[in-house]
Amino acid sequence: MFGDISAADWLILIARWAHITGALAWVGGSFFFAVVLRPVAAANPDAMRGVMGPIGSVYREVVDVSIAAVLVSGIVLMFDRLTGNDATVAWVAVFAVKLAIAAWMFYMVWRLRQAGYQPSEPEGIMGRLSWLLGYNSLVFFGVIVFFLATLLRELFEKSLAA
Ligand code: HEM
Repeated sequence: MFGDISAADWLILIARWAHITGALAWVGGSFFFAVVLRPVAAANPDAMRGVMGPIGSVYREVVDVSIAAVLVSGIVLMFDRLTGNDATVAWVAVFAVKLAIAAWMFYMVWRLRQAGYQPSEPEGIMGRLSWLLGYNSLVFFGVIVFFLATLLRELFEKSLAA
C-alpha cells in the first residue's frame, strides 16, 4: 500500500513533519505569549506575578526542543532540495532570505534570554521600540518565514512541473 514511498522519501516526509510541527510550536507559542499572556500579565501584575516565572521556564524548554527540531529537519530538507536539480535561482534567493531571518530569530531568542523577562509594559519611545524588537518581533518574523516557506514550496512545485 505504501510501496511507492521509498526509505529516502520517508526520511524527507518525517523531516517535513518535524519541521512544520517545530515551527508551529515555536511561532504559535510566541504568538500566544505576545498576544495573550503578556498583555494579561501587564494588566493583572499581582495575579500573574507568581505564575509567569513557571510558565516562562516550561515555555523555554518547548522553544529549545522546537528550535532543535526546526534546525535539524531544516538542514535535511535543505540538502534534499539542493542535491536535486529543481532548486532554481529564485528558490535559492528566497531560501537565503528565509535562512537569514531564521538566523536572526535564533539570535533574538538567545539575546532575550540574556536580558531576562521584563514583566511590565514598555514605557517611552525607546521602551516601545525595544519591545517591538523583542518578543513581538519573533512573531512578526515568524509569520514572514511561514510566508517564505509557502513561496518556496510553490517555486519548488512549479520547477518540478516545468
Ligand atoms: C524560523 C524558523 C523556521 C520556520 C518557522 C520554518 C518554517 C517552514 C515551513 C512552515 C516550511 C514548509 C514545509 C512544507 O510545506 O513542506 C518550511 C520549509 C523549508 N524549510 Fe523552514 N523554517 C524555519 C527555519 C529553517 C531553517 C533554519 C532551515 C535550514 C537550515 C530551513 C529549511 C527549509 C527548507 C529547505 C524547506 C523546504 C522548502 C521547499 O518546499 O522548497 N527552515 N520551513
